[in-house]
Amino acid sequence: MKTKIAIVVPAAGVGSRMQAGIPKQYIELCGKPVLRHTLDKLAQLLVVDKFIVAVSASDEYFQESYLPDARFVRCDGGKERADSVLNALQVLQDFSPEWVLVHDAARPLVALTDIEKLIRECIENGEGGILASQVKDTIKRGDTYAEETVPRSALWQAYTPQMFRYQELKSALQTALQNGVTITDEASAMELQGHPVRLVAARSDNIKITTPEDLPLAEFIIQQQEKSHV
Ligand code: CTP
Ligand code: MG
Repeated sequence: MKTKIAIVVPAAGVGSRMQAGIPKQYIELCGKPVLRHTLDKLAQLLVVDKFIVAVSASDEYFQESYLPDARFVRCDGGKERADSVLNALQVLQDFSPEWVLVHDAARPLVALTDIEKLIRECIENGEGGILASQVKDTIKRGDTYAEETVPRSALWQAYTPQMFRYQELKSALQTALQNGVTITDEASAMELQGHPVRLVAARSDNIKITTPEDLPLAEFIIQQQEKSHV
């Protein structure tokens, strides 16, 4: 029997660091909202059976037509990102996929080839994993002054998608939220439970649209990707 795979897309944030007046997932890049870029890209993954898009209950910008096909379902988001993800995982309860990937709506530039690599490596090894890239800059610890240069050889930037077994991720997130632990990505909840998290090397242009200077950069990357069919 085919392995059941679902993708959860948290898209219920307000985008406070973008200061755009509208949530950043609705800002247009090359004439199309960020959220549509993300969903249209994910829709090309034919191996995925179901997609849950978490949108704020008070969202005035979302349109049903943004959902690319019948595999996509909208659900309500929550207060924090982890609440949005957990809501979406609850919606998947009856479908009960073996694996689930979580991918930020705010990362429209992810390469399909990298997602396919993540899916392949996780299933082959029977372990969860995340897209990530090795830190390129020299890293300092400090406040006003640099106190220390941190060796970067073992440092990775964590991206999404992050892929885990559905039941394990759901219970890890539930436990973390019950314990009041701040969870910024799924991997941290899994690490706390002692689950392995594979680091799958990915293209470093999988940026999260966060601040205004990301917008022209993202448009440039989209144009480059259209040329090279990433
Ligand atoms: N997100 C969500 N529910 C929340 C908060 C965030 O679904 N309560 C989503 C965002 O829509 C985004 C992803 O999680 O796709 C990553 O979060 P982030 O980049 O922090 O987005 P925002 O929280 O919207 O931005 P900011 O932190 O600047 O307010
Ligand atoms: Mg946020």
